Amino acid sequence: MTDASLSPLWWHQSTIYQVYPRSFADSNGDGVGDLEGIISKLEYLKALGIEIIWLSPIYASPMDDNGYDISDYSAIAPEFGTLADFDRLVADAKSRGIGIIMDLVVNHTSDEHPWFIDARSSTDSAYRNYYIWRKPAENGAPPNALTSSFGGSAWTLDPITNEYYLHLFSRRQPDLNWENPSVREEIYKMMNWWLDRGIAGFRMDVIDYIGKQVDQSIVTDGPHLHDYLKEMHQATFGSRDVLTVGETWSATPGSALLYSGRERKELSMVFQFEHVTQQWDEIYGKWRSRPFDLVKLKSVLSKWQYALSDDGWNSLFWGNHDLPRAVSKYGDVKGFPVESAKMLATVLHLLRGTPFVYQGEEIGMTNAPFTKIEQYRDVETLNMHRLHLEAGLSPEEFIKGASENGRDNARTPMQWTSGANAGFTTGIPWIEVNRNYTAINAERAVTDEQSIWNHYRKLIALRKKHSVIVYGRYQSYLDQHPDVFSYTRSLNSERLVVMANFSARTICVDMPNELQLSGSCLISNYNPIDQVPAMLNLRPYEAFAILAETD
Ligand code: GLC
Ligand code: CA
Repeated sequence: MTDASLSPLWWHQSTIYQVYPRSFADSNGDGVGDLEGIISKLEYLKALGIEIIWLSPIYASPMDDNGYDISDYSAIAPEFGTLADFDRLVADAKSRGIGIIMDLVVNHTSDEHPWFIDARSSTDSAYRNYYIWRKPAENGAPPNALTSSFGGSAWTLDPITNEYYLHLFSRRQPDLNWENPSVREEIYKMMNWWLDRGIAGFRMDVIDYIGKQVDQSIVTDGPHLHDYLKEMHQATFGSRDVLTVGETWSATPGSALLYSGRERKELSMVFQFEHVTQQWDEIYGKWRSRPFDLVKLKSVLSKWQYALSDDGWNSLFWGNHDLPRAVSKYGDVKGFPVESAKMLATVLHLLRGTPFVYQGEEIGMTNAPFTKIEQYRDVETLNMHRLHLEAGLSPEEFIKGASENGRDNARTPMQWTSGANAGFTTGIPWIEVNRNYTAINAERAVTDEQSIWNHYRKLIALRKKHSVIVYGRYQSYLDQHPDVFSYTRSLNSERLVVMANFSARTICVDMPNELQLSGSCLISNYNPIDQVPAMLNLRPYEAFAILAETD
């Protein structure tokens, strides 16, 4: 199949903006962001060029994991608003050409979901089999060694019936039993109920887990995973023109083709993490990270670009609500905060796939500067703190890991203005505001022609204008260069050359012949350049893209 024969879909040239409602905009001064707050910022998102919003969960929830623990799938959490507010958000967004995709969290529910409350009450409950229960091992221990992503065993003994239930996240997030057809039917019904309200699709939370086979300790890529997705497709969104994104930590290029292959009738795209987990330690994961290695990062990004060049579709992102701030992780917040943020955006947005912007990334928000465990709110960080300290890690070492990779880094309130609480709330924010808001804020960014925000706005507009960015064939160059990322995208006679310096030094690059092209500069973070010379000097974190005509 050639690039040109890929039939365009409405979302191919769109950029998705992720809103983490709790931290986005608080309209009533209770310190928690809400739907009314999001509605008040739609103009801001429209000005940025956003066409799709991914809304992190806004359903009724005890908020053990900030809404990823749902107690009622068809109600809105009161702190976020009402169903009427939600309908207004969908309508107001639609009138600005923006679709809303919801977070679908169906691997697990909250332990306060009526299904679980009933299920745990008795082994005879009609809902017992909605969840995953096992008898204790002979010595009373958990049935097997499966662990929770938030630390410790994935099994909790429930005293009422003296059986263990499975939770691959916190003990307040019991896993649903997807092998039970009634569970699947209930979920499909619920999905249709939301689709009927006019949403543009779903982002599917840890969807690679739903085919799990616990007795064989298989969590991801279980034998029925793709059958369930096909069934879901057919029962819900298959007949509608919507967008579906699968959060799939375990995806490989091979499985991505199963999830997102055009003839497969499963999902629109995968959201996989191989490029952002390169620095994780094999044993301690993100809590002890290894030095940044650009050659490795490029090899992962390139592998995915090549593997999905004829079929399948990938997401493009540096961060989200589970990951550190991009500019803190891969850029240089001290020396070159603006240049490095623009560079990161440039190399990512010109790849093939759908770019995601996580709230605040577009103004260069940085990691939370927390130094004490009391400042953290995240259930994962707090659990891990307890477990790691029990295992002998010093509090200082733990805070060092958390301050680099903890999830609260990206959950501090959106920085709207230089006023009190960054303009996020008139009350006391649920988590501290990053003090750098007086310099880094949206109000300032939108009026500054040279801001990171305006750079994002240009990149988002370029994708809509140039199909070479959407469909062009990817080719990487200088793969072994430790500081420079260089690639081309080609479609028919057009060739886009993208160059980026990932270091704080000026780098002199001996350019391959094929890249010594001249054309028009689509974007740059220093002065525009329209010709690639044989010897190219790239200034600290410099990035640019030139569009050339070839024959
Ligand atoms: C996903 C979410 C994360 C959540 C977890 C459990 O990874 O992005 O925030 O904690 O699933 O729902
Ligand atoms: Ca509020």
